[in-house]
Amino acid sequence: MLTLGIESSCDDTAAAVLLDDTQLLSNIISSQHDIHARFGGVVPELASRRHLESVEPIVAEALHQAGAKLADIDLIAVTQGPGLIGSLLVGFCYAKALSFVSGIPYIGVDHMSGHLLSVFLEENTPDFPYIALIVSGGTTSIFLCEGIAQFKLLGRTRDDAAGEAFDKVAKLLDLGYPGGPLVSKRAAEGNPDTYTFPRAWLEKDSFDFSFSGLKTAVLNQYNKEKVKNKLPINDICASFQHAVVEILVAKTVKAALHHKVNTVVLGGGVSANSHLRHIMADECNKHSLRLFVPQPKFCTDNGAMIAMAGYLYYKNAQATPDYEADVFSRSLLG
Ligand code: KG4
Repeated sequence: MLTLGIESSCDDTAAAVLLDDTQLLSNIISSQHDIHARFGGVVPELASRRHLESVEPIVAEALHQAGAKLADIDLIAVTQGPGLIGSLLVGFCYAKALSFVSGIPYIGVDHMSGHLLSVFLEENTPDFPYIALIVSGGTTSIFLCEGIAQFKLLGRTRDDAAGEAFDKVAKLLDLGYPGGPLVSKRAAEGNPDTYTFPRAWLEKDSFDFSFSGLKTAVLNQYNKEKVKNKLPINDICASFQHAVVEILVAKTVKAALHHKVNTVVLGGGVSANSHLRHIMADECNKHSLRLFVPQPKFCTDNGAMIAMAGYLYYKNAQATPDYEADVFSRSLLG
């Protein structure tokens, strides 16, 4: 069975073709960093206009690289939400129209379930149940995953997502956009023990996160340091990154131990962060937990994970396409 996956929830237009759940035949991503970089963040109106220009050629390229024609496709999987409404509408309406004229069924996918199931794009896959930390520019959440479409939200950020905090710190330090990889690069040259930035542990048994206080602490430190001749950017980045990573890892491991689950999965753009991967691997090892981390190309937004989630959902419970369906801005998974 061939699934065409289409993703346009934020600032990447992406499409992929997946054979069953076993072989990824193509995975095309068109990034919009060039148009958003000068604003230091995604401008929703510009994002949807660029999706409009890109969606058709990106889908055509995904089909071409897979050696397939539209008529060969058995299922169209498309991100229905959460995300920027204007961006979502482009991919979703395109997929519905494609489905309507071709008679190929389509399925709307919650972007979050794409991240939760992206690990199945790898050769080495986990068994259920597992604890998943999904950490991106739009979300920071911990889920207990007990099966396909059986996801229980254990905790999530009460303010900024971790990736958003990376992007805002990068903007403050004038490093560029998107901030995560740039902060991470500078952090590799810095000392994480230079500043003790606050960690918001919240209530004793809470799996929720909060990053707004940390962001303000970085701003205050920056204001103190900028009167000096040389701003210690690398040390600020390293200390900030370590504070984020420490709390992400501690809460994820605690969730696994609390729910007596021996497998941890990472997903979302921030899980491309090497410090997070490294510390998570160490801690999981310490507690005899198995860790599964998809390759960075499957962590950031991509069409392959939407194809995989759509395929798995469809196999689980085939539904008739609903052409009246609309996009949604908040995840339905909690
Ligand atoms: O999942 P994603 O591609 O898009 C959504 O937000 O849905 O994640 C993008 C986020 C951005 O905030 C970006 O700065 C962050 O992931 N990111 C990173 C790294 N690579 C991407 N954050 C920290 N370290 C990285 N290496």
